[in-house]
Amino acid sequence: MPPIIQITNLTKKFGNIMAVDHLNLEVEDGEILGLLGPNGAGKTTTILMLVTVIRPTEGTATVGGYDIRKNPDKVRELIGVVFQEPKMLWVSTTWDIVNWHAKVCGLPNEERKRRVRQVLEDLDMWEHRRKNVHALSGGMRKRVELAKVLVQRPKIAIIDEPTAQVDVVGKHRIWNMICRLRDEGSTIILATNELYEADILSDRVAIMHKGKLLVCDTPKTLKDSIIGGDIVEIQLENDASTAIIGDLKNFKEVVNVLQIKPTLLRLYLNKVEEVVPKIMNMLLKKNVPVTSIHMSEPSLDDVFAHYTGLTIEEAQKVGV
Ligand SMILES: Nc1ncnc2c1ncn2[C@@H]1O[C@H](COP(=O)(O)OP(=O)(O)O)[C@@H](O)[C@H]1O
Ligand SMILES: [Mg+2]
Repeated sequence: MPPIIQITNLTKKFGNIMAVDHLNLEVEDGEILGLLGPNGAGKTTTILMLVTVIRPTEGTATVGGYDIRKNPDKVRELIGVVFQEPKMLWVSTTWDIVNWHAKVCGLPNEERKRRVRQVLEDLDMWEHRRKNVHALSGGMRKRVELAKVLVQRPKIAIIDEPTAQVDVVGKHRIWNMICRLRDEGSTIILATNELYEADILSDRVAIMHKGKLLVCDTPKTLKDSIIGGDIVEIQLENDASTAIIGDLKNFKEVVNVLQIKPTLLRLYLNKVEEVVPKIMNMLLKKNVPVTSIHMSEPSLDDVFAHYTGLTIEEAQKVGV
């Protein structure tokens, strides 16, 4: 099947600022694609071009086969958007906004009422349905914005920073809802600067920095691609011999072994879940008693750091 979204050399300049720089990316039908990057990476600008709110300086994209430059109306029919900074009618209540949106999307009466209620309940917003949106917190307004897309169930949902300003419990609710939307058949682009959010939700993650795509793959492949990115510490009962350290270095997945203390070894390796059982077996066979073992996996932040030399947090701070 051809990709549902095909982005080709998509570029946006604001004066001298290259907000999006010749972006090439494909989104497969039915996946959640996480668009991850620090503030200012170009995520929102990319999204605003895809949903035909702003025009590209150069390049283009097709959405469901329609070119965003030539057929913006067709593109909009396929898409539901959660904007990073939603513009809302301040006099409206939560229920009005979501219900009106469902109406515009052509949901029949009974179905509409049922779905609006269900979504507001699921987002823990039902009790706030009669409140004017100006009386809601930022996080709650974000949920109202998300509710619109959830009732709509668009072919393609484009969601910009869904949980900014939302508390932890709210975040988990929203994450569940986004997964459900995907399971019901929507393809989703999710822009976020939160590593954890991108990691747990995305089928694939595209990491952006300074308007450019650094890399795009499954979270697991990205983490595995960092050579020696997994860390395992093995606490031995007795001092480690040179022979044992040599044996550990002989595993092809092991990149380096450091002897932190006479009895404590730190291994930098790949494919931790495959190689650790093999290491334990070897140590057992050679009668080397192990007291404890501690594993940690690289995060998407390590992937980002691998490509930029900065953690996402650092990139956020310096604003580059
Ligand atoms: N309307 C605009 N006018 C001028 N500069 C803009 C505008 N929108 C975004 N930018 C700049 O483009 C870059 C990318 O911004 P944005 O797409 O919002 O990034 P992100 O969503 O990843 O935080 C930033 O340097 C930002 O300041
Ligand atoms: Mg943004």
